[in-house]
Amino acid sequence: MEGLNRYREMVDSFIDKLSKKAIFPPLFQEALFYTPKSGGKRIRAMLVFSSGRITEAEEEPLTFIASAIELMHAYSLIHDDLPVMDNDDMRRGKPSNHKVFGEDIALLAGDGLNTYTFNLISIAPLSDSKKVEIIKWLSNNAGIGGMVVGQVVDILTARGRLNGYSKKRLVNFIHKHKTAKLIQASVLCGALCGSPTQDVLERLEKFGLYLGVAFQIIDDYLDVVGDEKKLGKRKVDEINNTLTYPKTYGLEKSYTMAQKLKNMAISEIEGLNNSDGLRQIAKIVVERDR
Ligand code: IPE
Ligand code: IPE
Ligand code: MG
Ligand code: MG
Ligand code: MG
Repeated sequence: MEGLNRYREMVDSFIDKLSKKAIFPPLFQEALFYTPKSGGKRIRAMLVFSSGRITEAEEEPLTFIASAIELMHAYSLIHDDLPVMDNDDMRRGKPSNHKVFGEDIALLAGDGLNTYTFNLISIAPLSDSKKVEIIKWLSNNAGIGGMVVGQVVDILTARGRLNGYSKKRLVNFIHKHKTAKLIQASVLCGALCGSPTQDVLERLEKFGLYLGVAFQIIDDYLDVVGDEKKLGKRKVDEINNTLTYPKTYGLEKSYTMAQKLKNMAISEIEGLNNSDGLRQIAKIVVERDR
């Protein structure tokens, strides 16, 4: 855990430095960094670093990539909380971005973070070929090959605009895309900062997807049994008619499924050198209470 905390601190201080660069107007500068600096768990950043340990990546480029992915994640949260999406007025224990800056500016802050992510990657101290690989994974998995499409299916399903598919098929698609793909990209982009073999990349690809689905199942689980104060956000799945694992499989079975996925993830990385960090994170993902 000590190692993981250090990774979090490195990313927090990197993002803090970015936030001090002047942007006009100052109100927008504040809106851009309000959510990235409001204290998330930094699980994706920890995954970048821990995966980079396996491929002997250096910490400086890992800090760029981990921070870039946390900005991408923050953009997804800002948009996810908007009234046209989940309509959640709390995030990370504070009023959501749009509650402070208005929906117009929150929308644009999300847009700004999305593209800033790729600008940061472009200036990371890595070879051009590594940067292109990282951009390839991230732009696909955060976009129309992942998070964005997952959000589309999440919203259409909740609003009864996508019919003719089974609940099980839909919820699996939603979780894989809206959440697991960005988690998978975090793992792969960390590894790509070093020198991964094809075998390692393939194993990490599976690790990331299994763990990512487990992550969203636990997010759903906590939306039922969790404490809003600890979560720092409102439990809105019921109100929004969001399709979740507990709704599809029941609460107990969902938890068991998350545990099973975590074990499947861990078995993928068995025998890899320096994979303790990833194992620790996998444990945190299912045992967390926020
Ligand atoms: C919340 O992610 C959004 C999901 C994809 C479930 P986290 O639970 O990682 O949120 P933070 O970054 O810790 O606030
Ligand atoms: C998050 O799913 C998906 C994103 C891409 C942000 P949720 O809507 O369940 O996330 P929370 O519960 O608001 O953090
Ligand atoms: Mg949502
Ligand atoms: Mg939400
Ligand atoms: Mg949720």
